[in-house]
Amino acid sequence: MTATDGRSSDAVPGRPARGESAAGPPGQEPPGAGASRAAGAGEAAARLLEVRAVGKTFGGVIALRDVSMRVCPGEVTCVLGDNGAGKSTLIKILSGMHAPDSGEYLVDGAPAAFTSPRDALDRGIATVYQDLAMVPLMSVWRNFFLGSEPVLGRGPLRRFDVAGAKRVVREKLRSMGIDIRDVDQPMGTLSGGERQSVAIARAVHFGARVLILDEPTSALGVKQAGVVLRYIAQARDRGLGVVFITHNPHHAYPIGDRFLLLNRGASLGEYGKGDVTREELTSLMAGGAELEQLAHELSRGEPPG
Ligand SMILES: Nc1ncnc2c1ncn2[C@@H]1O[C@H](COP(=O)(O)OP(=O)(O)OP(=O)(O)O)[C@@H](O)[C@H]1O
Ligand SMILES: [Mg+2]
Repeated sequence: MTATDGRSSDAVPGRPARGESAAGPPGQEPPGAGASRAAGAGEAAARLLEVRAVGKTFGGVIALRDVSMRVCPGEVTCVLGDNGAGKSTLIKILSGMHAPDSGEYLVDGAPAAFTSPRDALDRGIATVYQDLAMVPLMSVWRNFFLGSEPVLGRGPLRRFDVAGAKRVVREKLRSMGIDIRDVDQPMGTLSGGERQSVAIARAVHFGARVLILDEPTSALGVKQAGVVLRYIAQARDRGLGVVFITHNPHHAYPIGDRFLLLNRGASLGEYGKGDVTREELTSLMAGGAELEQLAHELSRGEPPG
């Protein structure tokens, strides 16, 4: 098990990247890698986002220190860590909500300094927050277009293109395999997994290149979490770079290409899928020694013989 440095140009073993733009120059694929696998200089060029040694403090609290990670097209990067590990702080930096106090933030290989989430969105970096910023009493189609309503006509004749909006939503949901019976139904009547799925479809529709998901599966049961994981895979297969934040190694492992582990604001390393097993990931996440200690404390001991 070896951690990969976000800055190195190592070819992390794993599934080939799916996005067209992930492809390196022809004829430069490493042996054994998939046809569109980028490597070396090619991989560096294909990075949608990268942070290098970023840090953030709030007053006296060091929320994040010296953390590096990258996001590539057609890949899922999982950010794992316990409560207070710094996961949300990291994604707030990626999504333009916080400026880092130290380190570098690169978008498409060039330094970026966002002053708001709008700046990040304009560069195709969309964040789906756990509370989703959706209106439960409004219909699915209205929520889909919230803030970006399609219009017909000009001047005083300008009006909301209701039929067009509904058609687009139906088509988009269907194209991602999302089965919502009626786009007129209130958002609040959908299950948690369906709501997350609609938010993912919406980000894809509005041209996201990077999709950041803050704990989309944490409140969901096994089946619903599976539904959301499928749509994450769909977004990945369309070539988006996905950042998937979770507490749960069992959700992260099947879908992740790369795993960044955070512990009390510091990185425990960035691992490629071939570098770490599910068990190692779980043990790193939980602090293996702490878990063993806990198991020892909770055990009843051997019954007297
Ligand atoms: N705006 C803030 N002001 C002060 N401290 C903050 C702020 N945001 C985060 N912190 C602190 O930074 C640390 C990391 O918090 P963060 O929210 O990034 O953790 P997290 O990994 O997302 O945790 P959780 O799993 O509970 O969501 C915590 O100690 C938190 O109290
Ligand atoms: Mg958080």
